Amino acid sequence: MANPLLITGASQLLTLRGRGPRRGNALSNLGIVKDGALLLRDGVIAAAGSRAKVEALPEAVAAEKLDVGGRVVLPGFIDSHTHLIHAVSRAEEYGLKIAGASYEEIAHKGGGILNSVKKLRSATSEALKLRARAALREFAGHGTTTIEAKSGYGLDVASELKILRLHRELNEEQPVKIVSTFLGAHVVPLEFRGKKDGAERYLALLMEKLLPEVVVGDLAEYCDVFCERGAFTVGQSKKLLTKAKEHGLRPRLHAEQLSRTGGTQLAVELGAASCDHLEQVNDADIRALGKSGTVATLLPGCDFHLGLEQYAPARKLIEAGAIVGLATDYNPGTSPTTSMPMILSLACSQLRMTPAEAIAAATINAAYSLGREKTIGSLEEGKQADVAVYEVEDYREIPYYFGMNVCWMTMKSGEIVWMRD
Ligand code: NIG
Ligand code: FE
Repeated sequence: MANPLLITGASQLLTLRGRGPRRGNALSNLGIVKDGALLLRDGVIAAAGSRAKVEALPEAVAAEKLDVGGRVVLPGFIDSHTHLIHAVSRAEEYGLKIAGASYEEIAHKGGGILNSVKKLRSATSEALKLRARAALREFAGHGTTTIEAKSGYGLDVASELKILRLHRELNEEQPVKIVSTFLGAHVVPLEFRGKKDGAERYLALLMEKLLPEVVVGDLAEYCDVFCERGAFTVGQSKKLLTKAKEHGLRPRLHAEQLSRTGGTQLAVELGAASCDHLEQVNDADIRALGKSGTVATLLPGCDFHLGLEQYAPARKLIEAGAIVGLATDYNPGTSPTTSMPMILSLACSQLRMTPAEAIAAATINAAYSLGREKTIGSLEEGKQADVAVYEVEDYREIPYYFGMNVCWMTMKSGEIVWMRD
């Protein structure tokens, strides 16, 4: 077993201690300790607090020492919404988007998600893994220690299982923890379109064939649906998510991204872990989220990349008491970024969240949306030593700088997994 490790020299230690998840005013509470220190033992936090207090512990005296030189220390980011496994970028659509084509217009022309499906189906597992591994390295390099990852570019039995198995393999091969979500209901695949009752028949395939395989193979913890015009209706989403729940998979939902469908109300009704996007929510949706335990996960990278003006109403959601989370939505169509700090910058400048709110949304609240708030998302005794250190003296500088990486070091379970040269 490794020696205990004493980390000192944190100009600010953002502990995020106390009860999670955070709502309303509590979202701003980062539990900051000036001149903070951490004592780590066997990948777990043995103590977190002021340097004087932690250094005085008998175990700290004999521990290995790491002085982070006056930098900011916080829990590793938890990116609770990604589409990790895809074959290639969709840079060819970027020019069309810039020229004014909408996301839906591009999809109608055979671009969009179906374009990525075609590419994924013909890609080997090895090629997919190589691309994902490079992305995971980037996640770690920006201070992220846990991600959620969805299937959804396979849309047939073999290809969806191929993606979910890659989640498992990658979990064993590299340090960033992957929480797996089954998103077979991303869109209706081409071979079911134009058929009578194509969407219903595809849903039947998902419920009767794919879902049982996912469950038997223990390949996912969550089930997600893209509830959107041109994807799946509220009724179809309810059918699949109810079935998934019976199988022990907790719902998540893509809702009210491009149009208001009523997906948010469904998410709340089903007790979904998270309801994501929310650009088009109405006041009743906001009230419903405010009273629920479903996390309102905002994905401003999508609006930024697509050049959309309507961002999600973060302030209203916070005022209503919703558990607001933030994630990258890393995917080739709407948000090609692995950078949580960039998402924080967008959350501040576009969603008008404060730096403190954004950090809590991307750590403890995101942990809660993945059912892991007891083990990650804050720096407290007994929690996993998932730690990010930034090359700044004040935490507000993390979102303040944008388009440059100020991450200095990332630790997963007490091991350094990324460090600036
Ligand atoms: O979260 N909205 C649905 N899924 C992704 C986009 C997928 C794609 O365009 O490839 C999203 O934005
Ligand atoms: Fe998504």
